[in-house]
Amino acid sequence: MNVTLSSKLPTSIKADCLVVAVPDQEDWPVSTTQADEALGGLLSQLQKEGDISGKLASTLLVPVTGQPWNRVLVVGTGVDRDRSAASYRKALSAAVGQLRDGSSKHVVLTLAETATNSSADTEADRVSLIGRILEDQLYRFTQFKSEKAPSRKLNKVTVTASGSGKGLKDALETGLATGRGMNLTKDLGNTPPNICHPTWLAEQAEKLSKEHKVVKTEILDEKQMKKLGMNTLLSVSAGSAQPARLIIMEYRGGKSDEKPHVLVGKGITFDSGGISLKPGEGMDEMKYDMGGAASVFGTMQTIAELQPAINVVAVVAAAENMPSGTATRPGDIITSMSGQTVEILNTDAEGRLVLCDTLTYVKRFDPATVVDLATLTGACVMALGHHATGLFSNDEGLAERLLAAGERAGDRAWRLPLWDEYQAQLDSNFADMQNIGGRPAGAITAACFLSRFAKDYPWAHLDIAGTAWHSGKAKGSSGRPVPLLVDYLLSNVGK
Ligand code: BES
Ligand code: MN
Ligand code: ZN
Repeated sequence: MNVTLSSKLPTSIKADCLVVAVPDQEDWPVSTTQADEALGGLLSQLQKEGDISGKLASTLLVPVTGQPWNRVLVVGTGVDRDRSAASYRKALSAAVGQLRDGSSKHVVLTLAETATNSSADTEADRVSLIGRILEDQLYRFTQFKSEKAPSRKLNKVTVTASGSGKGLKDALETGLATGRGMNLTKDLGNTPPNICHPTWLAEQAEKLSKEHKVVKTEILDEKQMKKLGMNTLLSVSAGSAQPARLIIMEYRGGKSDEKPHVLVGKGITFDSGGISLKPGEGMDEMKYDMGGAASVFGTMQTIAELQPAINVVAVVAAAENMPSGTATRPGDIITSMSGQTVEILNTDAEGRLVLCDTLTYVKRFDPATVVDLATLTGACVMALGHHATGLFSNDEGLAERLLAAGERAGDRAWRLPLWDEYQAQLDSNFADMQNIGGRPAGAITAACFLSRFAKDYPWAHLDIAGTAWHSGKAKGSSGRPVPLLVDYLLSNVGK
């Protein structure tokens, strides 16, 4: 996909389709008025007749003659005073969704002109968002369909803006790279679990560092992890025919003495629950239990493309959770890499088991911050639904930076407490702790468990169980929280 900026008059650019915005009732953006004038008032006429309403995310495709463009796509941006970053994203997504299956090859997009009411909104933000949404909305996962869908016609987008200087160009690149990162995340998440197993995930990391030489990859196998004492991680893969892998990816774009920002991803390539087997309904969706890992991969790809001046280390704990004669039993007590002992009362609470050893492992990088990403608890979905990621942190500043990044990126998180009172739910009669905290506040007790292994650095945990994928008819990976993570990492440049 060829996406470029242009400061030319939109109506003068030769293209298959011109995309313009129409608000509900209020004054039109300049480009819309110009298109209307070029068309002898056709758009005003259509509005009078009720074909164009301006209703948020409505679209109308109008074939035209005698213009440098063969069609005009009118996109409703809703009532002006309600116009937020979220409604802007909705209108943009509707436009791109319409273009995805259309017959236009070259499209001119004037939507960067349409400001939102947010005081933080700049033209660069809108250009960046256009880049991201173009990539995100044009994504398809068709690898396993034998009947190939007709290939997409759209291959060139010209984004009109007030200029095409470095600031706007960088913004466009950031958005496009973020969208491509989301798409890598989606590809990994959607890949079926008979293919996407820990060894395959490790190969994807090697592929990433082949394509982007700035990323260095190291893979630890089970023997090496055993030697390090990563027993809780290995207790999860014990029942699986697929061996676990620890996948380390390093990007060093900052000064050599600058502490790295560390990302840790839960990479359970399939979570059957183990001996504490899950019920059958919807179990296929547990292929998405490597969503944290997938978002780490996507973010690393975006960082590799943008090459900001920061150091980032990503570590993915990859394992498959299966029942078998060699599987870990409820009642087993395991000594973690930190030396703390864990009584496993439910083998389905496996995410915290692979993460806790990884949180101990990353101490060696002397991190500035550690953020882990995990589809950790069904309880988080009960608490926040599918709109917000659950955020937990032992550091006020880090929590605020992550919340702000999510807000800016339209990929929101919401903070839940890590108060000491909850820790008691993890008391075990036989070991230092047990791996479950009972039904009340399940997302919080899971985070409390992790906090015991993350005491030596500023740490945050993002529970993405409700946000990493969509269920139902639109089943598929969402690419979240790549936008949040990219925004957060870039906000650390020069800090
Ligand atoms: N991967 C699941 C969490 C999950 C469940 C995410 C459903 C998204 C949708 C996790 O490993 C798990 O099974 N958690 C248990 C923990 C419980 C046994 C304490 C859960 O949430 O039920
Ligand atoms: Mn589980
Ligand atoms: Zn799981």
